[in-house]
This record gives sequence, C-alpha cells and structure tokens, in this order.
Amino acid sequence: MSLKAVVICSALAALRLARTAHAAQPGGAEPVPAQPMRDLVWGKLNFLHTTDTHGWHGGHLQEPQYSADWGDYVSFAEHMRKKADKDGVDLLLVDTGDRVEGNGLYDGSHPKGKYYYDIYREQDVDIICTGNHELYIASTADAEHQLTVPNFKENYVASNLDYIDPKSGERMPLAQRYRKFQTKNQKLDIVAFGFLFDFTGNANNTVVQPVRETVREQWFQDAIREEADVFVVIGHVGVRMPEFKTIFNAIRKQNPLTPILFFGGHVHIRDAISYDSRSFAVASGRYFETIGWMSVDGELARTALSQDDADAGFSFHRRYIDNNLLGLQHHTGLDAATFPTEHGRNVSAFITKAREALDLDYAFGCAPKTLWMSRSPYPGDNSIYSWLEKEVLPDVATNPDRNDMPRLVIVNTGAIRFDIFKGAFTRDTTYIVSPFLSAMTHIPDVPYRMARKVIELLNTAGKIMESAPMDNRFMATPEQLAIHESILYEAPVLSDSFLDAAQQKPLGGGSVVDGGRPRLTEGYTTRDDIGLDGDDTVHAPVNFYVVPNCVQAEVEFPSDGEPETVDLVFLDFIAPWVLMALRLLGGEYSGEDVQLYVEGTFTDLMAGWIEKNWPRHC
Ligand SMILES: *[C@@H]1O[C@H](CO)[C@@H](O)[C@H](O)[C@H]1NC(C)=O
Ligand SMILES: *[C@@H]1O[C@H](CO)[C@@H](O)[C@H](O)[C@H]1NC(C)=O
Repeated sequence: MSLKAVVICSALAALRLARTAHAAQPGGAEPVPAQPMRDLVWGKLNFLHTTDTHGWHGGHLQEPQYSADWGDYVSFAEHMRKKADKDGVDLLLVDTGDRVEGNGLYDGSHPKGKYYYDIYREQDVDIICTGNHELYIASTADAEHQLTVPNFKENYVASNLDYIDPKSGERMPLAQRYRKFQTKNQKLDIVAFGFLFDFTGNANNTVVQPVRETVREQWFQDAIREEADVFVVIGHVGVRMPEFKTIFNAIRKQNPLTPILFFGGHVHIRDAISYDSRSFAVASGRYFETIGWMSVDGELARTALSQDDADAGFSFHRRYIDNNLLGLQHHTGLDAATFPTEHGRNVSAFITKAREALDLDYAFGCAPKTLWMSRSPYPGDNSIYSWLEKEVLPDVATNPDRNDMPRLVIVNTGAIRFDIFKGAFTRDTTYIVSPFLSAMTHIPDVPYRMARKVIELLNTAGKIMESAPMDNRFMATPEQLAIHESILYEAPVLSDSFLDAAQQKPLGGGSVVDGGRPRLTEGYTTRDDIGLDGDDTVHAPVNFYVVPNCVQAEVEFPSDGEPETVDLVFLDFIAPWVLMALRLLGGEYSGEDVQLYVEGTFTDLMAGWIEKNWPRHC
C-alpha cells in the first residue's frame, strides 16, 4: 500500500543544486538553498524544540537540507534569544529525550557517548526530559543520572521516572518532579513537567510510573495548584498518545483558563494538535532533521485574565524548521559570515574532533545504490529489507555447527533505523542504520509446520495475544507506528501566487528555478490538525510505503519438498514475540531454548558483509 506522504529528503536531487555555503562538518553535504520558505511567527512566549535526536548532533553529512550541526543550533539559539530580548518577549528551549542511540557520534565510542555528553550540554536547554532510549541499557541510565542531569541541573524534569542507585539500592526521582520558574523578560510564571510514556522495556535501574498514577500523586496535585501563567508539559510521548490526554485532563480540571503547552516526541514525526482552545501540542520529528517552533500570543499573565477576554487575541503558531544551515540563517536574517557565534563555532570544532577521534568517516565499502526503508516498496529492488533478505541474512546467519540445517532467519524491521545512501558506507553509517546491540539467536530443530507460521503471526497488527503487554508494532520502526495510527502526510496545495512570491526572494543563491518556478527539494510535507503550512520549507512530497513488522529469509532449504525441521534464527530483541507466537502454534518453548547463533552484533555482521561484498572505494 502506498501512502501519500513524506519522510526524508532526497540528498541526491538536492546535491545538484547551487553550492553557496559551507556545511558545518567537513566532508558533509553543502546546505541546500531550499525555497520557498515560510517565516516564523513570533508571539509573547516562543519555543525551540528538539526531540529524538538519537546522536545526530553532527548533522546529516549526506543530506544537505539537514546538515547543520549542534554548533549551528547553538549559534541559532543565541541569535533567537537576542531577538527575544530586544523585543521584550521570551524564548525557551525544550528537548524531549531519545538523545542517544542511532549515530556513530554516540554509539561509536567505548563507552558509548564518550563525546556526546560534552557536545550536547553546550546548548542551553531550559526544559529537558528522558526518552525510552536513555533507559534500555542500565549503563545509559547511569550516565543520564551522572552526567546529563547534573549538566542541566534544575532544567531537568522527571515527573514519572525514578532511578535506583546501584550502590545503595535507594530509589529516588531521576531529577526533580517539576520545575517552576519565571521567564527572563516578561516574568511569566511557568510550571513545567517532564514525562515519559508508559514504557516497560527499561533496564532494572529505573522505574517508570504509569502516567495515570502520577497524576494522582499528591506532589502533582499540589503542582497543578501552583500559581502559573502557563503550564508547559514536555514529554517523550506522541502528541496523540493517551498519556498526554490524561495529563491535559488533570491540569485543565484544576485550571480552566491557563494555557497548557505540550511538546512531544517518540513517534518521530512532525505533528501538531490542539486539545482545546487554550492548549496546543507539537511534535518535532526525529534525528535532528527538525527544530520545532511554537509561539503563543495574547494575554498570558493570569492576573490580567478574565473568563470573558481569555480568548481575545489568543493564538498559537507552529513551524517545523528544517535543520538546514541556510534556513537557520534565513530565520535570523544573517548570512554565512555573520551567523556563526564563537560558542557555536567551538561546538562545531569539538564535534569535528570527536568524529575524527572515532574515525567515523572510515569507509567499509561503497553502496552501489540507495536502499530505502519505506520510500520504496517492499519487497522490491530498492528496499533495504529485500536486500537484507536476499543478500545479507543468508550470508551472515551462519553457524559452523549447524550450517547444513535449513533455517528461517527473521529480523524485525525496527532493527533498521535509517536508509543507506548511494556512496560511502562508513563506520558512522553502521550505527546510523543499525545502532542496536542485538545478537542473532536461534531455537534449533523447530518443526517446520510450526516455524513457517511464525512470521505471519509477528506481522499481524495489534498483539499476538490480547493479554500480553507487548504490541507487535514495537518490532517495527516508530515511524510505522504513526502510519498505523493514520497520521498521514499530504502534499500541500500551493497557490500560484505563493510560488511566484517566493521566487522573488530567493534564498542562498537563485539557481533553484525550474521553468520560472522554484524547483522544490523533496522532503517533509506535513499535514497536521492545524493545516498544511507547518513546514518552514515548501517541499515536493515523496511516497511512503508500509513495511511489515518483520522480514524473513529462507536459507539452505531443500530444492524440492519441505524440511521436516528448521533452525529458527532471529534477533534476540524479538525473542519474546517469537516465543509467544510458537506457544500459540502449540510449541512449548521457553527462554532457555533460545541460544546464541552467531557471535557479534547484527550491526557488526552487516558491516562485515559490506566490507566483503561492496567495492571498497566509490
Ligand atoms: C538488575 O539486574 C541485574 C542483572 O540482571 C542484577 O545483578 C541486579 O541485582 C538487578 N538490580 C536490581 C536493582 O534489581
Ligand atoms: C571557544 O574556545 C576558545 C578556545 O578553546 C575559548 O577560549 C573560548 O572561551 C570559547 N568560547 C566560547 C564562547 O565558548
């Protein structure tokens, strides 16, 4: 099934465009003069929002429209704060978690994050919380507690998350439960919360409290009775997930007029929704492709507020800013010479040093073509999953003791996190495409009549067993979760006058013109509850295809007939689902039957395959 939608931009089309400025990281794609642009609408209270950055703080080196790095964001925020100060309004920065796992800059060091913590802390984030990826591995949660929480001190909020001290065994809030503060210029009283969705896959050194229980806690009930001009709820929560609705209802019940602003993440999409006329939520994408913008205007001070005039002049705006250096310059009215601040330059230079120290540009091989996760149909020649099934899995799923055994090799599609672009496949790429430490495990000698049906069960929507806590969709990518929830993207309808007007103020060089019109770069064309005008850059849409939860390769099958038994080989991450499927098919297997199949992580196996099979140089 094909859905009108968008995901990521095409580096390839964009690379043909004019090159006018330098990318932040050496070797990265030149930023692309994207246009037309939609400007930011400022209000009294303004926000910049990052979420699900997953280690991409060096920017997208292969995608020009997302190639700004964390240092550029530091420069950007500095200019935006100055503008806020000049205009007497306020600007706050928010981050909603999943800062780790997914890029060589984080995953490529031992221990992981050797440079990341020092890079990330250089941004002055006003309200910050935790994502599920900070919690899968105990040592990641330890580092969050020992490094990120102290780096951000009172700005770090953990409303429903506890940490267990490894030495004393003592359980304590990971950070303060909420934050009350005044904005710099207007002295608005803000009460801010930081939530995580009802996550259950965390290591045992943290405890996530279900949101419906948190809102009944005395401290929460007291906090929502604090004198506040605005409530700000940040969370590693999809803006359409029930957790946010629960929090909204709890706060609204107590505060009929106070604006409640939500910043969400987790599902990796750009999205916005209004819960009521005085409450607004945005989600700001993934992988540092997007910097979210929200502004609120109208009377915010509670003392000036009456029931009658509460809605007068009250408005919200949202914008999804492409992390494109030229776009950031555009929004600040600056150019390549005036945009970088000393602090921003320092951070960019530090990232360059870290990338060099980690040898992230080391090439394992040259990808002969681009392989897409969901921008090309599965199965198909350009599908990364078909490539895995046909070429990689049969080769890497080998075990000298069992190589003659027919086997079914199952990989969940969520194990792949990003496309592979034609060109150098580097150390960085391995972590970008597959950051997880998953190993290949197996159950030997499973009756084929049973084993053959496992994939079908894994790929059914919903849960294998209604009573089980595990949703099948957690085996797919977060983006697919959004698709299943029918949050779609659609091409905006662009009026002729808009395109013509845009053409008259070209950005970063004027060559992006096709038949008298700007030639649009491919990218996000977001449709949210507010409309079709959220993206700061007008893009040509790209297609997006649904992929199953899992894919499967048949290896060493007899040339005719069916095998009696097979080895069922799968990534350890999906073992609980596989065991449940087998049980449903009448197979009584337990965790003890699951044995390691190949030494090494799936990521290493894939890199090894590429080194052997793709040309060394491009
Ligand atoms: C967590 O699990 C580890 C290893 O499985 C165990 O050694 C440790 O005692 C557990 N910690 C807690 C707090 O339960
Ligand atoms: C930038 O780095 C230089 C050299 O390390 C240092 O002296 C300076 O204080 C830094 N500036 C900022 C704003 O971080």
